[in-house]
Amino acid sequence: MAAMAREPITQGEERPEDRAFQSLRPPSLHEFIGQESVKQQLRLAIEAAARRKETLDHILLHGPPGLGKTSLAYIVAAELRVNIRLTSGPVIERPGDLAALITGLSESDVLFIDEIHRLRRNVEEILYPAMEDFKLDILIGEGPSAQSLRIDVPQFTLIGATTRTGLLTSPLRDRFEMIFHLDFYNEEELRQILTHGAEILEVGITPDGAMEIASRARGTPRVAHRLLKRVRDFAQVHGDGHITRQVANEALELLGVDEQGLDSLDRKILSTIAEKFGGGPVGLETLAASLSEERDTISEVYEPFLLKRGFIQRTPQGRIATERAYRHLGLKPPTRSMSLLSEE
Ligand SMILES: Nc1ncnc2c1ncn2[C@@H]1O[C@H](COP(=O)(O)OP(=O)(O)OP(=O)(O)O)[C@@H](O)[C@H]1O
Ligand SMILES: [Mg+2]
Repeated sequence: MAAMAREPITQGEERPEDRAFQSLRPPSLHEFIGQESVKQQLRLAIEAAARRKETLDHILLHGPPGLGKTSLAYIVAAELRVNIRLTSGPVIERPGDLAALITGLSESDVLFIDEIHRLRRNVEEILYPAMEDFKLDILIGEGPSAQSLRIDVPQFTLIGATTRTGLLTSPLRDRFEMIFHLDFYNEEELRQILTHGAEILEVGITPDGAMEIASRARGTPRVAHRLLKRVRDFAQVHGDGHITRQVANEALELLGVDEQGLDSLDRKILSTIAEKFGGGPVGLETLAASLSEERDTISEVYEPFLLKRGFIQRTPQGRIATERAYRHLGLKPPTRSMSLLSEE
């Protein structure tokens, strides 16, 4: 086990389920559905860099999980026809590890750092001159006789991804020339993603079958793909393999995904705020402890969608369940949470 203690600095992929979806990853900007403004700006920057025969500027991608940050990083490298090296903030332990990664790049390569907000501070600091001037400061020797040496590294494009842009230090954020926010997808975009995904998985799907899954996919392509696979299983076992609206409906019901796309943990979050904490406000820590869930799972994976759809609100005192949440749960909203809402 000792040899397993350290994770590799460079990773091909970060999530097993994404690996299974490798074939579902859009290979080019043209095939990447949605996020029109981000695509337009990327296309322009890529084209301009190619014309000037320059290395593309650094890019920061931020937004909730599963919206396509990693996919876009792959696509940018493919469009630039350069190599991509993947790593992530928490796996880089020492500055030397990152320095080795950077010096191993070829001219104009893409270095993708996932979860860049979790870089250790001393590791992050070696990125500053590397991003700005393509130089690295390396320390040679130890103690009082140690010497700092500045070396040139190949020009490269850093693509950073984060679900928590607020946690990025400003010196790091300021060194990205392009910063793009990815937002949730609308149902029509998800329907197109699903229709395309079904083609790749070679499963028949009707337009209203795709729409049914789309409307319950939390605005998130990763969720859409995951539901598609489960509905496909259901269609093959209980039907003729074809996904119709009714098949999708039955399968999603079995999965506990309701008509708003909320799953059992979403509903548990809402009912806990509503019933255990009288509608809130309740702090994130308390809520997480009460649900026996990771705080980050709630705040990074679940909350963004619940906030976006108006099921909860964040106040300085904590989270509160909105009237919409009560209605969704079939509960009567108390007047207290409403007066809190109007104070906001
Ligand atoms: N616009 C899109 N069109 C088609 N499929 C997409 C699109 N965006 C994302 N996907 C699919 O959704 C899945 C998740 O995307 P990706 O891994 O790029 O998300 P991410 O933003 O990097 O998520 P995380 O923050 O969790 O790392 C992938 O399987 C990918 O194929
Ligand atoms: Mg990713």
